[in-house]
Amino acid sequence: MTRLLMCAPEFYGVEYEINPWMQVSVPADRDLALRQWDGLYRVLGELGAAIELLDPVPGLPDLSFTANGGYVQGRQVLLSAFRYPQRQHEAAHFERWFRGRGYQVLTPPAGCFFEGEGDALPSGETIFAGYRHRSDIGSHTELGQMTGLRVLSLELTDPRFYHLDTCFAPLPCGAALYYPPAFDEYGFRVIRHHVASPVAVDEALALRFACNAVVVGDTLVVNAGCEELAPLIEPFGLRLRTVDLSEFIKAVGSAKCLALNLE
Ligand code: ARG
Repeated sequence: MTRLLMCAPEFYGVEYEINPWMQVSVPADRDLALRQWDGLYRVLGELGAAIELLDPVPGLPDLSFTANGGYVQGRQVLLSAFRYPQRQHEAAHFERWFRGRGYQVLTPPAGCFFEGEGDALPSGETIFAGYRHRSDIGSHTELGQMTGLRVLSLELTDPRFYHLDTCFAPLPCGAALYYPPAFDEYGFRVIRHHVASPVAVDEALALRFACNAVVVGDTLVVNAGCEELAPLIEPFGLRLRTVDLSEFIKAVGSAKCLALNLE
């Protein structure tokens, strides 16, 4: 059973620039964002995901990107410590949500940034964890201690792919989608060595957020425009479902960023 945490984009917007793509001069259409988010919410629900909700908060336009709020395993969560001051107030809202439901809340070491599932994605007994642009590598020790899983650190080299979930997506059966140029030579070798079936996507697909994907059952949900993924994932028994998330691309998030795994 897939359980996800989402947050409606009632106060969503492009109000600052903290990644190379955001442009305040290209504002988001909030009504359209709400409809698109609703479309994703409905698709994930139809596929069988149980979805819990975090209340939107005025003044926190990126709060809908719940995947960045922490990393959950069982009843424990390693809470995020956001790198940019613009997002740091989000942590208290995630913390309140988790404490209110009885989770044990852990925090990264002082001075160490960590952006949750944005930079930490599980695959079997391994967590692939990105660092450099947002999360610090120091957070990976904490992640390993909390989960008891092997953490493989991957340096992200291209600022356009600032979170691991923009360039890497674990699929069931040990497969994963990835965009090779987003990693250094070492990271590339780690992926080739530790992912049973690595599936490279090209730049055009990566720029359409093909790696920012949510798997529910046998379906991979991604942004519209990534239809070319279908034949790449079919060998793993996966079907493709696309949802138009164009308004979220403006702040630079897509399907995965909008849903935190609670399992
Ligand atoms: N504007 C947000 C930021 O730059 C978008 C985060 C999207 N999440 C993601 N996992 N890529 O932090």
